[in-house]
Amino acid sequence: MKKILIVNGPNLNLLGRREPEVYGPDTMDDILVGVRDRFADVAEIEYFQSNHEGALIDRLHEAAYGSCPVDGVVLNAGGYTHTSVALADAVAAIAPLPVVEVHLSNVHARESFRRQSYLGPVCAGTITGLGAKVYSLAVEALL
Ligand code: DQA
Repeated sequence: MKKILIVNGPNLNLLGRREPEVYGPDTMDDILVGVRDRFADVAEIEYFQSNHEGALIDRLHEAAYGSCPVDGVVLNAGGYTHTSVALADAVAAIAPLPVVEVHLSNVHARESFRRQSYLGPVCAGTITGLGAKVYSLAVEALL
């Protein structure tokens, strides 16, 4: 059984209520039920969400160097994707633990500032714009 950690950044606790026309109608609980069900035989899915940059960084460190390390990380860093050198440094610092960057919306089809990702260069890959299924696609990629 592999252990995969899904990490969501700021404002993603409001999925389902937050701009549903952009991020879809599902809550993160709905999404997690689907992901856990789909990979029940092969992966244990842990979940962490924070609106705070340092808490996200601490959780990534723990994922690699803590007492229960994981096999891979799915990371939706929300707005920090486009701003956070520190979060990108954290992803680089936990290498070779693979991290897949995901976005529910197609960041390339939105405002120009969303086209820049500090995480892209340090992640194993990026999945963007396919709605809630980005999480299961990323887990699949990590198995
Ligand atoms: C997002 C895209 C980001 O640009 C935005 O700041 C988010 C969500 C997405 O999942 O589409 O908070 O990461």
